Amino acid sequence: MKEKADFTGVEQTTLITLYLRAWESRSKDSILGDHFAAEAVKRIDYDFGKLMVRGGAGNRFTLALRSRQLDEWAADFLRRHPDAVVLHLGCGLDSRALRLDLPPRVRWFDIDLPDVIDLRRKIYPEPDGYRTIGASVTDPGWLDEIPADRPVLIIAEGLVMHLTENDNKRLFQQLTERFGTGELIFDGFAPWVIRMTQRMSKSLARRGYTPYWTAIRDPRDVERWNPRFTYIEDVPFVSLYARIPARVYRTAYRLMNTISVTRNFYRMFRFGF
Ligand SMILES: C[S@@+](CC[C@H](N)C(=O)[O-])C[C@H]1O[C@@H](n2cnc3c(N)ncnc32)[C@H](O)[C@@H]1O
Repeated sequence: MKEKADFTGVEQTTLITLYLRAWESRSKDSILGDHFAAEAVKRIDYDFGKLMVRGGAGNRFTLALRSRQLDEWAADFLRRHPDAVVLHLGCGLDSRALRLDLPPRVRWFDIDLPDVIDLRRKIYPEPDGYRTIGASVTDPGWLDEIPADRPVLIIAEGLVMHLTENDNKRLFQQLTERFGTGELIFDGFAPWVIRMTQRMSKSLARRGYTPYWTAIRDPRDVERWNPRFTYIEDVPFVSLYARIPARVYRTAYRLMNTISVTRNFYRMFRFGF
């Protein structure tokens, strides 16, 4: 029997990313190869087709590039800290904990809003060392459940833009107060993209998308939000164009990579503390 997903608003955005990963996994020379997503889509009773925007087929490559970059940073952190705590904030229905080969001592926490976590528990296994938490990341209570005596990897994929800047600052403050050392990895859009989604909020809502709130203009702004953070690197997703198997998108992203405004409109960021 299929599981129902009666999501609206921001919760629904996880169905979009799940569907795009499932779609991308069927590409020849898939970038991410997320067969967990492909299996999960089959188990959910939802009209995924309605989420597709016209001309949005390339989004499956954008998604796969961003997820693979974050997977690689996560794997690198776990190689250096095999006893780490991982906080996967706004995990949605992403299978990262299953995709990565987790060292046995890692404690992994997948955190999302309660309805999303309820569905997640029905479709994915929960291996040893892995736990889900159904809560808003802006509610400080959930952090009390997390051991604070290990290095922490904080992953926030597709989340920072959905929170207000004040919520992001407060969340980062709580995290750096609780943990001694770690890394934060996430993706973020340029300010013009945020403004555009706000202007288009009605048409986005009809397709299950929500407008964004927080932009990352310059990674140094994140250091100013929270002086514990030290910028390590950022990667514009279009700079990874060579990984795209479809020539038309590879060429488009290669061209976008040559102009600053299109090169930097969407990037993955990595900070240490
Ligand atoms: C675009 S989806 C990304 C999901 C997943 N990270 C991925 O890449 O597939 C955004 C996710 O953030 C979650 N989210 C939004 N606001 C949240 C909050 N305040 N607390 C916890 N999760 C939140 C949504 O429920 C949704 O699952």
